[in-house]
Amino acid sequence: MEPRRTAVLISGTGTNLQALIDATSVGIHPARIVLVISNRPGVAGLERAARAGIPTRVIPSRQFESRDAFDAALDQALREAAVDLVCLAGFMRVLTRAFVERWRDRMLNIHPSLLPAFRGLETHARVLEAGLPVTGCTVHFVRPEIDEGPVIVQGVAPVLPGDTVETLGARVLEIEHRCYPRALELVASGRTRVVEERVVVADEHPFERLLLHPSLQGTPR
Ligand code: GAR
Repeated sequence: MEPRRTAVLISGTGTNLQALIDATSVGIHPARIVLVISNRPGVAGLERAARAGIPTRVIPSRQFESRDAFDAALDQALREAAVDLVCLAGFMRVLTRAFVERWRDRMLNIHPSLLPAFRGLETHARVLEAGLPVTGCTVHFVRPEIDEGPVIVQGVAPVLPGDTVETLGARVLEIEHRCYPRALELVASGRTRVVEERVVVADEHPFERLLLHPSLQGTPR
């Protein structure tokens, strides 16, 4: 099977983009990144793509009068590149219902919490505020409601004594970088289906959709 033509949409640093580039550019992978689009000019993620020889586009959301107009430009760029799958990777922009429906079950997002807990922004500050011992990240299919949609993969990371937003955020990012390539692999290989708004994976192995931060391996039970 030809690799699925995948676009990654970013707004910033692009460390998840980097993880996707690294995973898809070695050996045989069912996805190939053919386009990176940023809604902000000059961000580090664009350099990462350029360094990997991946075509980039900047579609500056600020210059569009409406969400509809921006999303139409986005859609056109994706179609011009004959894209099959879309990965939102730190793409900090709400998409219109029409756009999301057009890419239904073909568009993935990563969120830095164990959804459905902690939708929205500043997840790590809220986890710390709640005094929780555990958090993580979620890769899910995108739905029109923010941070909703069938979960593909989750990654778990501990909250450790003395953690700050920065230390916790860095730990969660480590597990994000393993979860996103795993989720893209599951979807691009055609093994996922959405049934009644739940992801079903063909021939699923135990723990295929659950990744643990390395610090959790071997913890006492
Ligand atoms: C990641 O932590 C991602 O989960 C988060 O933004 C960061 C982007 O980092 N996304 C959201 O909060 C979406 N609501 P990156 O640019 O280094 O990949």
